[in-house]
Amino acid sequence: MAQNQQAISGTGHFYSLLLCISTLFVLSSHIKYKNDMAQIVSPSLLSANFGNLQEDLKMINSSSCEWLHIDIMDGVFVPNLSFGPPVLKYVAELCEKPLDVHLMVVEPMNYLPAVKNLGAKIMNVHYEACAHLHRAVTQIKDAGMMAGVTLNPSTPVHLLKDIIHELDLVLLMSVNPGFGGQKFIPHTVNKVRELRELIDSTGSKALIEVDGGVNVETGKLLAAAGSDALVAGNAVFKDADPHAVISALRAL
Ligand code: DX5
Ligand code: ZN
Repeated sequence: MAQNQQAISGTGHFYSLLLCISTLFVLSSHIKYKNDMAQIVSPSLLSANFGNLQEDLKMINSSSCEWLHIDIMDGVFVPNLSFGPPVLKYVAELCEKPLDVHLMVVEPMNYLPAVKNLGAKIMNVHYEACAHLHRAVTQIKDAGMMAGVTLNPSTPVHLLKDIIHELDLVLLMSVNPGFGGQKFIPHTVNKVRELRELIDSTGSKALIEVDGGVNVETGKLLAAAGSDALVAGNAVFKDADPHAVISALRAL
């Protein structure tokens, strides 16, 4: 009888041990999951000091940011111009971070060879600039880049329903594109939430990136709503300690 009780309590210990091990396993995988949830940070070169780009690129290379965001504007799709090919060639040579290219141009597919030649990791085209979005996305992926589709603040998320499974990234504009240093549009947080639901419910692997007026304060709201990547221009380049801002955004 006593022997039986010992055997039973031995079995009990065994099961408690198993329970402890599995709890630890679940906890550690949860911690890993949380680490995996850190935001990708893509500082926007548009806010760099164009009088000393080399210095700012050095800062980017030595920082913990994942990508460098490059805004290309044509003065037609948006009321501004940004970088041309010679500057971009120089940036691509000096930058050690993968390039996240955002094309604010009409006929963005005309620039596919140029963006590919830069060695870009991601090519973002605006939904509003592509009459044949499926063809554009296919061509970007065939060229070996991640295909990103960008939505202006007034373009609804649900318009991506029939292409979301093909996308590597969706870039949500949280300002009207064309200029750095603008005020964040709060409704973007709802759009991130809606896009997160669309992505999760369709099994799409698309990353959610947000661009415009992002700083640690607005980034916190975006991360909580389900963003994966944050573009930040002024918040990074105009701060006295850009590395600290990048680290703070990554930790959101
Ligand atoms: C705006 C650009 C942004 C801009 C972000 O048209 O697409 O990438 O540089 O700059 P901040 O973070 O200063 O709003
Ligand atoms: Zn941008």
